[in-house]
Amino acid sequence: MASLYHLSAVLLLSIIPFTTSTACGINSTTAITTDAQAFSAIEFDYVIVGAGAGGLAIATRLAEIEGTTVGIIEAGVFHDGDPVIDVPGNVGQALGNSTYDWSFETIPQPGAAGRILTLPRGKMLGGSTGINNMAWTRASRAEYDAWESFGPNNGWNWDGMLPHLKQPVDVAPNRTGLPLVDFEMYEPTFEGFSGPVSASFNAWYSDVFSPYLAAANSSGIPSNLDPDAGTTAGLMNSRSNVERDTGTRSYAASAYYCSHASQPNFRVLVNSQAIRVVLKKATLPGLYVATGVEFVSNNNTYTAMAKKDVILSAGTIQSPQLLELSGIGNSSILKRVGIEPLIDLPEVGENMQDHVFAPAQYQLKPGILTFDALRINATIAAEQSAIYAQNGTGMFSGTDSALSFLPLDLFLDNQTIGSLIDSFDTVVTENSTSVFRKAQYEIQKDWLRQGHVPQSEIIMWSRGAAPLANESYITLLSGVLHPASRGSVHVGSKDPLERPVINAGWLEADFDVLVVLQTLKFALEIATLEPLVSMIDSRVLPPPDIQDDQALIEFIRENAASASHPMGTIAMAPRGSGGVVDGNLIVYGTTNLRVCDASIIPNGIGTHLQSTIYGIGEKLAAMIQDAQNTADCDS
Ligand SMILES: Cc1cc2nc3c(=O)[nH]c(=O)nc-3n(C[C@H](O)[C@H](O)[C@H](O)COP(=O)(O)OP(=O)(O)OC[C@H]3O[C@@H](n4cnc5c(N)ncnc54)[C@H](O)[C@@H]3O)c2cc1C
Ligand SMILES: *[C@@H]1O[C@H](CO)[C@@H](O)[C@H](O)[C@H]1NC(C)=O
Ligand SMILES: *[C@@H]1O[C@H](CO)[C@@H](O)[C@H](O)[C@H]1NC(C)=O
Ligand SMILES: *[C@@H]1O[C@H](CO)[C@@H](O)[C@H](O)[C@H]1NC(C)=O
Ligand SMILES: *[C@@H]1O[C@H](CO)[C@@H](O)[C@H](O)[C@H]1NC(C)=O
Ligand SMILES: *[C@@H]1O[C@H](CO)[C@@H](O)[C@H](O)[C@H]1NC(C)=O
Ligand SMILES: *[C@@H]1O[C@H](CO)[C@@H](O)[C@H](O)[C@H]1NC(C)=O
Ligand SMILES: *[C@@H]1O[C@H](CO)[C@@H](O)[C@H](O)[C@H]1NC(C)=O
Ligand SMILES: *[C@@H]1O[C@H](CO)[C@@H](O)[C@H](O)[C@H]1NC(C)=O
Ligand SMILES: *[C@@H]1O[C@H](CO)[C@@H](O)[C@H](O)[C@H]1NC(C)=O
Ligand SMILES: *[C@@H]1O[C@H](CO)[C@@H](O)[C@H](O)[C@H]1NC(C)=O
Ligand SMILES: *[C@@H]1O[C@H](CO)[C@@H](O)[C@H](O)[C@H]1NC(C)=O
Repeated sequence: MASLYHLSAVLLLSIIPFTTSTACGINSTTAITTDAQAFSAIEFDYVIVGAGAGGLAIATRLAEIEGTTVGIIEAGVFHDGDPVIDVPGNVGQALGNSTYDWSFETIPQPGAAGRILTLPRGKMLGGSTGINNMAWTRASRAEYDAWESFGPNNGWNWDGMLPHLKQPVDVAPNRTGLPLVDFEMYEPTFEGFSGPVSASFNAWYSDVFSPYLAAANSSGIPSNLDPDAGTTAGLMNSRSNVERDTGTRSYAASAYYCSHASQPNFRVLVNSQAIRVVLKKATLPGLYVATGVEFVSNNNTYTAMAKKDVILSAGTIQSPQLLELSGIGNSSILKRVGIEPLIDLPEVGENMQDHVFAPAQYQLKPGILTFDALRINATIAAEQSAIYAQNGTGMFSGTDSALSFLPLDLFLDNQTIGSLIDSFDTVVTENSTSVFRKAQYEIQKDWLRQGHVPQSEIIMWSRGAAPLANESYITLLSGVLHPASRGSVHVGSKDPLERPVINAGWLEADFDVLVVLQTLKFALEIATLEPLVSMIDSRVLPPPDIQDDQALIEFIRENAASASHPMGTIAMAPRGSGGVVDGNLIVYGTTNLRVCDASIIPNGIGTHLQSTIYGIGEKLAAMIQDAQNTADCDS
């Protein structure tokens, strides 16, 4: 179980050759080019690296400003109309395949029984939004408010983010029809209705969906009918970023790119990898100006030119790598590999936070329909394939959408919570290694004490995580949302095409393991409740002989996997207290080099990340536009 989502890669017997139409229609490739020579001859206002969630959001919004030219450099290509990406039922198939996935690996992880774990990252127009699991969620108010607590930073809080969390999305109207409670209704005040990404409720629910909700409900988890309103705690039926009319994935490429594909001031260079930001000394001493980006295309090196800003949106793993390759980072790390340090910012690549989950998997009694049927029953797979091809509905259009975000007091007694807080106190004593870390731990400890902010999540999969042939399953994935562990990513060499060294730090703090343990035990309890328990044949994971806490902890260390939510490696905070970028997302020591992706999140959020990363791009675009308007008025 190298990565959580690798598990679903074994789901289908084979890819069913759907004929999906191209996402953008006739203009799908208008802005796309592979002509590196021509691209490097243009002097753009903005050059952006990476066409994922953050990159396409910022690029397309900047391209809406009249007279502004925008060029993006993307290492992958546009998989337009490719069923591996577009068909929700094929989720997981792209993972580990170099056509779509960078397939990074960590160094051996001591907290995870010494395993080397894979870290999937989308390599394509759309980035990781092209391979993700399509859960469309956001975090709680307090989690965004924490961002601004490290210092003044231009409204990076819930109130400042909310308009930009609405901008990316067009949510489909309410539908009704679930037996337990109507989980398909959200309060419209908090939703967006005019953005490029489509989000909708499922069109297909498995036989275990409602029984699971009922069992979770009777275990005491309240239903959250409005999880986008600032409080995520409780049991929800999340929306998915699926375009319901066609049943296809709605992601950064099909949404943000396609809606801007025919704009003449917007160019996307694909199949090209950025290797360095070109910096020159500014007139003010000690400052640098970014003038462009060096990149490799077909083994040749070129430079893209930027008149205004260079914006890195290469994601949590590769944006810090690019900073280090450009001479920005911890000077001793740079010198060690032979890179000349220009700006000493020791926190580049540090502070990585992620969500780590462990599975409980149950084999179901015969005749219970789950996504496994597409893997094990050729008749059903063929039927569903026809339904999907004709109407874009049915099992192939479905996702796993039953999530619960759990503050500890929802499922643990005071004594257990007390022992978790004690465990956290040990981390604070041992590992408050910097002012920044200390400040983060203060916030996390307040959340533990107050009990409103969810500390763990249970994701229900209507499928096996590690399935055997011919059987159907339910899987409950239990994870920690606000870990105490921190990881890092750094260059291991000055060769820009070499992979960075990733030490994810997963489960290094005992606190993290104990949170997973308590959540897993609670998931095991839910599975003993009606009406779910009558559908279960037997427990598969953890193996039934694993019972006591010590054995469960070993199981967790040997089987836990990341939800692929790394963030925080280029934190937004004041310089000198852990920050790499300021409140305008400008890298300290530069006048115009910005970062716009998941790496700027200073303090991890306990949710699935994509809607927030789009929101960061939307907010940065608004800030840049405001600054331009002010400058225009002044002049
Ligand atoms: C398997 C998986 C499942 C997930 N499930 C969910 C989910 O269900 N719900 C959810 O909300 N989130 C989910 N996520 C997380 C979410 O998709 C990511 O957090 C989000 O896409 C991050 O956005 P980003 O802009 O930081 O990076 P990305 O979207 O990864 O984009 C980075 C882009 O930069 C490009 N790039 C990198 N380096 C270079 C370079 N040197 N030169 C040129 N281009 C470069 C990459 O090819 C990529 O296109 C999942 C992620 C994964 C991997
Ligand atoms: C990877 O994806 C490509 C394109 O869909 C496909 O042709 C190839 O068979 C896949 N490789 C593996 C190992 O699955
Ligand atoms: C969806 O349902 C909720 C709860 O009944 C209601 O408040 C809201 O107005 C509905 N939203 C839309 C867009 O109709
Ligand atoms: C469980 O569902 C019932 C029926 O909808 C509801 O009244 C009750 O509040 C729910 N229980 C919890 C803990 O939310
Ligand atoms: C395609 O692009 C052309 C030229 O930019 C534009 O006139 C036309 O409206 C676009 N068509 C669609 C369907 O977007
Ligand atoms: C690039 O160079 C490498 C090594 O020199 C070679 O193996 C590869 O075929 C070249 N690729 C292209 C696209 O020219
Ligand atoms: C910089 O890196 C060196 C070498 O890895 C390390 O010893 C040092 O602690 C780092 N400096 C800071 C401030 O993190
Ligand atoms: C496949 O599903 C069909 C329809 O539900 C059922 O009749 C058939 O028995 C199943 N086949 C197998 C091998 O389970
Ligand atoms: C598609 O939907 C139509 C209308 O609901 C229905 O008549 C038809 O049978 C569906 N197609 C398939 C293959 O199920
Ligand atoms: C648990 O602690 C809370 C707050 O400290 C208190 O209100 C509650 O009564 C305690 N519950 C039990 C069962 O001790
Ligand atoms: C799965 O079921 C089919 C049809 O019932 C049978 O032919 C096959 O041997 C089974 N495979 C395994 C691995 O049990
Ligand atoms: C402190 O951090 C180190 C390095 O990540 C880790 O090994 C150790 O377990 C942590 N201490 C606690 C109490 O979690």
